Amino acid sequence: MPLPDAFLQELISRNPIDDVVSSYVRVKRRGRNSVGLCPFHGEKTPSFTVYSETSSFYCFGCGAGGDVITFIKKIENLSYIDAVRFLADRAGLKMPDEHTDDTISKLRMRILEANRDAARFFHQCLYAPEGRVGLEYYYSRGYTDQTIKRFGLGYAPDSFHALLDYMRKKKYNDDELKAAFLVAKSSRTGNYYDIFRNRVIIPIIDIRGSVIAFGGRVLDDSKPKYINTSDTLVFKKTNGLFALNFAKASKENSLILCEGYMDVIALHQAGFTNSVAALGTSFTEEHARLVARYASEAILVFDSDSAGKKGAQRAISLLRKTGMHIRVITIPNGKDPDEFIKTYGAERFKLLIDRSSNDIEYQLIELGRMHSLDTTDGRVSYLREAAILLSRLNNPIERDVYAGKLSAELSVSKQAILDQISRYQKSDIKKHQKQELSHAVKQSEGVMRKVNPQAATHLRAARAEEGLLGLLILHPDFIKSVSQRLNPESMVTDFNKGLYERLLSRFNEGQLIDLAFLSSDYEDDEMAYISRMVQNARENVCTTELAAEYADIIKNEHSMLAFNNPDQLPEDKINEMLDVLRSQRK
Ligand code: CTP
Ligand code: MN
Repeated sequence: MPLPDAFLQELISRNPIDDVVSSYVRVKRRGRNSVGLCPFHGEKTPSFTVYSETSSFYCFGCGAGGDVITFIKKIENLSYIDAVRFLADRAGLKMPDEHTDDTISKLRMRILEANRDAARFFHQCLYAPEGRVGLEYYYSRGYTDQTIKRFGLGYAPDSFHALLDYMRKKKYNDDELKAAFLVAKSSRTGNYYDIFRNRVIIPIIDIRGSVIAFGGRVLDDSKPKYINTSDTLVFKKTNGLFALNFAKASKENSLILCEGYMDVIALHQAGFTNSVAALGTSFTEEHARLVARYASEAILVFDSDSAGKKGAQRAISLLRKTGMHIRVITIPNGKDPDEFIKTYGAERFKLLIDRSSNDIEYQLIELGRMHSLDTTDGRVSYLREAAILLSRLNNPIERDVYAGKLSAELSVSKQAILDQISRYQKSDIKKHQKQELSHAVKQSEGVMRKVNPQAATHLRAARAEEGLLGLLILHPDFIKSVSQRLNPESMVTDFNKGLYERLLSRFNEGQLIDLAFLSSDYEDDEMAYISRMVQNARENVCTTELAAEYADIIKNEHSMLAFNNPDQLPEDKINEMLDVLRSQRK
């Protein structure tokens, strides 16, 4: 059952797109629209545009686009109906009755409930006799009861069915528990058993306060050190950050990124409540965007072992793409933040942050370590790589400062270094612009090819169809006259024909025409393609003449198409086409 128009209309008017988007993206007003950095691809210059007038968005970089529902679908990684539900919740709207019980959404809700109950169970066990070992473990790491409570930490008993029994009593069925990744089914016996056993349990809580996953750590040195919830209907590990629910409330404009759960908990206990960590995976592009959404500065605290350094480099390069400010803390003596705070206290850690270098400084030091500066060769290649690094700095003062440092370190004139930097900069800017452009073109071409494959072989027709459809979505009042001129059968490409039919039928039924009413029927890529039509139409002066011109081109192209295989046509069709051709010659 489609959602009633009246409901969708209410939903859209109560969720102004600027409002919705601004809780994910920093946007700046520019004329009637707002622009910001696209949350769907990495970029440094804003090409993500929000149009309040048409309640839509479009990214000139990656071609993502659509209405407010498409936006939520993409950014929250939800199905269409769940995105609608999300927006309804946000605006305090009740969903129409028949939509309150969709199977997948129901299961998703059950998983969230199960997770909450499981978290409660694990936490209770911690304070029961069988959980004593877990509690001792936390105490040995210096965690207070207050911290344990705040993070809802727990312990999973040393049993294959403690949780299973408890949850079955709470009326969860085995399928639900399996979907939540709380139990697994033995392939040998067919029996279900607890996944987390004899481990301390760290619940992962999202920014809305739902328990979405768990991490379980062994109490000793056995392997694997951690078991983490795999991806489920409510959890995708490549885009979650542990403790973001607390960190987002912190007053700091920065986020401290560490490697592990334990580091984050220790840092919060020591007062650094803006600390977060990726969840049992390496840092991803999605993490970087999430960080950029909540802070303007990232402070990286990675272990100083080789895995930690690699992780830091990866995170730095991903975070750089978001344009945010980055600082890197190197903890002396190969400790991790947790150990450092335990040994030297929070004050000393604060000092580390205050004195921390920005990422350029960090990378310069790393570069210096990699080259032997005693040999001429080593110095030359160090200088070259350092100049490449510094050429990426946007701020001339920063460039000057580091060039000065390098000049002193290597006894080379500062001007020579600055000249070299500026040479790299010129080639770098060009390369970068070229890359961005070709990437953008590839992206939107890719989308187009997928959504409307026929467009590639019927370019002229597809252009006209896109122009016409975009125009009609912007100006539904033109539909009537266009429909008299052009029937859907004359559309050349199937996708556009379908869209045209949909617009006509909505129009004939007296329903509203708007991007938002299309998003229930179209996938994200299709919405992106449609948004692009609307986007392009916005740049034209939309008149009935233009609409008529498009319609004629389409008709013409359509008849040409048929003309290429005339023998397959019935006679009346041939006559009709001849008429068209004759009328065009006039
Ligand atoms: N991790 C994981 N699985 C492992 C090892 C690590 O998922 N077998 C992830 C966890 O998210 C962990 C992070 O990588 O928090 C960092 O690993 P590590 O530094 O080894 O763990 P810590 O949390 O620091 O644990 P501890 O201080 O107890 O060694
Ligand atoms: Mn650690």
